[in-house]
Amino acid sequence: MNEITLDVKSAATKIDPNIYGHFSEHLGRCIYEGYWVGEDAPIPNVRGIRTDVVEALRKIKAPVMRWPGGCFADEYHWRDGIGPHEQRPSMINTHWGGVVENNHFGTHEFMDLCDQLGCEPYFCGNVGSGTVQEMSQWIEYLTFGGKSPLADLRRQNGREAPWRLKYFGVGNEKWGCGGRMTAEYYSDEYRRYSVYTRNYGDNELYRIACGARNDDYHWTEVMMAKAGNDQLLAGPYMDGLAVHYYTQIKRLTDGTRVGSATQFSEAEWIEIIAKGLFMDELVRKHGAIMDKYDPAKKVAMIVDEWGTWYAVEPGTHPRFLYQQNSMRDALVAATSLDIFNKYCDRVRMANIAQTINVLQAMILTQNEQMILTPSYHVFDLYKVHQDATLTPSEVQSERYALGDYDVPALSASASVDGDGKLHLTLSNANPHKDIPVRVFVNGFKAARVQGQVLQGDSMNAHNTFTMPHVVEPKGFHGAQISGEALEVLMPKMAVVALEIT
Ligand code: AHR
Repeated sequence: MNEITLDVKSAATKIDPNIYGHFSEHLGRCIYEGYWVGEDAPIPNVRGIRTDVVEALRKIKAPVMRWPGGCFADEYHWRDGIGPHEQRPSMINTHWGGVVENNHFGTHEFMDLCDQLGCEPYFCGNVGSGTVQEMSQWIEYLTFGGKSPLADLRRQNGREAPWRLKYFGVGNEKWGCGGRMTAEYYSDEYRRYSVYTRNYGDNELYRIACGARNDDYHWTEVMMAKAGNDQLLAGPYMDGLAVHYYTQIKRLTDGTRVGSATQFSEAEWIEIIAKGLFMDELVRKHGAIMDKYDPAKKVAMIVDEWGTWYAVEPGTHPRFLYQQNSMRDALVAATSLDIFNKYCDRVRMANIAQTINVLQAMILTQNEQMILTPSYHVFDLYKVHQDATLTPSEVQSERYALGDYDVPALSASASVDGDGKLHLTLSNANPHKDIPVRVFVNGFKAARVQGQVLQGDSMNAHNTFTMPHVVEPKGFHGAQISGEALEVLMPKMAVVALEIT
């Protein structure tokens, strides 16, 4: 009964590399200590940005980075983050612990980071406490090549040529920290702000509207109906509509998170797996509303915040959202990426929250030390899908059930890359049982299979600063070609990536 059928002949839709995107906010130790250590730090850096972190993110081909928030974006005033460091004013990061932000990491440093990573910058502008003028001037500062007071200011700050900037978000979580707006109100605000996000020269912005929280389908309906593209103005003025969804145990009535990232029962394991899989329903239902207004799928769905969210690690600042990362998170990463791949005709970007030291991080740092999380390794295994063509797949799986939850044990997605190699990524959420799987590949003559596996010896297996290599990909020898099928023995609570040629 555990069968996967891959229809290589029907492969048609490209998997946008940006589905493997990242989100980094001025929150806790993500920017400071995570990326930015300053030029004089003993930690190896290039112009203040950690070299080890850049190398690690280049390895997984981080394609796009959303910045500066999050909730921080709607309190951020970009002019505070330009010019000589010692002259930049400080501000209070009111949303994330009331700590003082010295603005040493600003526009130029972020663009330098993106250059070092070789990724696309994705700016999120301030609608909540900013103005149309402030937002429009940021874009002029960044992208105008001619002579203007703002372009000259950029030159004075050391950058002669305008930057190329594509992705621009018009505010964050407008229904919450971004101003507690209704969809009806924000859709008008979006129209107004987006008009003044100008294209200078041949720089073309890709404008992303703030989208729904979880299953607020009304938000998507209103945005598509009122702020979607119409004939009033030339050119598209909404290229993408966002949606945010976090996988979490529950919250107390005062908003406090419960549930540890590493000390959890099997009941919490399956709860998180099941809640992670809810992403499928969300993408499908938001997508169906978008289809109604935009059957040609011109407006992309941008899942620009997703990931697991637990109680913070004991002893750490409650607003710094620092959590460990285990095999359970690896499973959520794998199943979520399978879902984004599956709906890649509509989902064209997704940004995991957040890259370093915050929530479902790829990387954790402690002074000069850096460790890679199980979620990082999933992004590494899955990077083969970036820019490959989705292979439609049908997955028949036995169930894995406990208490209130009952989920398919197996998840998978497949693609064919530019060299004609077929990539199949699979996961098995059952923590007790290896599962034999038959894979039928239609329209592809499979001669050879090789793979890698990410598996822990327990549900909460994770890497620490003293034991950084507990969970790492290893060679996988549980797949072989047998007649017309591929036989795979999917290990329990594991993620496998196969290359079939
Ligand atoms: O990622 C942490 C926060 O979660 C972001 O700042 C906000 O957009 C969301 O609520």
